[in-house]
Amino acid sequence: MNMRTQVGIIGAGPAGLLLSLLLAREGIESCVLESRSSEEVETTIRAGVLEQGTVDLMMELGLGERMQREGAVHHGIELRFDGEGHRIPLSELTNGRAIVLYPQHEVLKDFIAACLKQEGHLLFNVKDVQLSDISSHQPHIHFIHENELIDLRCDFIAGCDGFHGVSRSSIPDTVQRVFGRTYPFGWLGILMQAPPSANELIYAYSEHGFALVSTRSPELQRMYIQCDPHDDIANWSDAMILEGLQLRLATIDNWQLHIGPIIQKSILAMRSFVIEPMQYGRLFLAGDAAHIVPPTGAKGLNLAVADVRHLTHALTQFYQKKRTDLLEAYSTTCLRRIWRAEHFSWWMTSTLHRFPDDDPFQQRLQRAQLEHTVRSRAAATSLAENYVGLPFDW
Ligand code: FAD
Ligand code: DHB
Repeated sequence: MNMRTQVGIIGAGPAGLLLSLLLAREGIESCVLESRSSEEVETTIRAGVLEQGTVDLMMELGLGERMQREGAVHHGIELRFDGEGHRIPLSELTNGRAIVLYPQHEVLKDFIAACLKQEGHLLFNVKDVQLSDISSHQPHIHFIHENELIDLRCDFIAGCDGFHGVSRSSIPDTVQRVFGRTYPFGWLGILMQAPPSANELIYAYSEHGFALVSTRSPELQRMYIQCDPHDDIANWSDAMILEGLQLRLATIDNWQLHIGPIIQKSILAMRSFVIEPMQYGRLFLAGDAAHIVPPTGAKGLNLAVADVRHLTHALTQFYQKKRTDLLEAYSTTCLRRIWRAEHFSWWMTSTLHRFPDDDPFQQRLQRAQLEHTVRSRAAATSLAENYVGLPFDW
């Protein structure tokens, strides 16, 4: 079967779905192809922190109603080290900007509901997605949907299929440069049925390693501890996880972690990764397909949002005014923000984790860095400005 659309979008994650919604607002038709089922997309637990710009964009699109009702606005975070907490007053340091805790899978539910209401297509459970003719003016996407082989002709293809997708590998090796780091630690993430232990997120550095206390709702808490990235989650009993959290979060004033049943646990590896350029012919990569940050800075989803905002603007100018300059500048425009976020995420990760091969010198440097961040208003402002997110046109 033959189909045709203006923009073929591969992947129904935050990048792909938001791109489709933004394009529809400009009268540009798209077709989103997703390999997983809608249930799987809507239940996979990932990000929690939305930057101010992401929140503002969702409101502008009329998609913020549930986020406003169920999400929690946070005006600060805590950095905890040497058994003491230090508040970074995000809003005070950034002219009132803040973050919202609203889980990624809830964002995706809101995006999917909105996509299904608009014209265009959103297909789940597609198989064998392949791209062809991407350097021509009429690229194609071939795929199987409900046992039918479909040839989708497009003006443009947006590769929004995450780090393990197929789009990136369609760019010839000879024109791409890849930059990256893997880290010698991962995160063990849990969901715990318990009341919140704090009003704001806690990022803790300790001799036992890193811990993060986040939240999902008044009844459900999200927490992470540093672990060996190659470890098997089956090796971690609930009691071991609790002990790990308590050791890393211990304070001199005897702060208590509220505990309850652990209902979900998993281990994720951490990496930094960027491909340059993010474009080849009529294929444009966005989000995790083009770049990965370690989750410590809470930047991944927010970067995906910034990418598709730029891509929408460039495509709109192409369709409305036949301008190609913004499409040509897409990669350069996005990469300025991406590299800033790469640096921030690497910095947060390197400052807050214990490295397996570190020595007392390295640990003293980390502590000096943390002291500077909480004692110097300039340093705290730099953290706050990066954490709440830079303006889209940065
Ligand atoms: P994805 O979400 O990966 O979506 C890609 C989609 O493409 C998927 O649905 C996939 O099934 C689909 N796909 C893949 N291959 C194909 C194919 N061949 N054909 C069709 N479809 C395909 N970011 C933040 O901003 N804030 C946070 O607080 C934060 N916390 C995080 C915590 C954790 C534990 C993790 C793991 C990540 C966190 N992130 C955070 C990062 C964030 O989750 C990602 O950056 C974000 O999901 C990227 O969105 P995306 O749309 O680019 O890619
Ligand atoms: C969460 C995830 C992050 O990566 C982070 O830095 C803060 C919070 C979360 O899942 O809530």
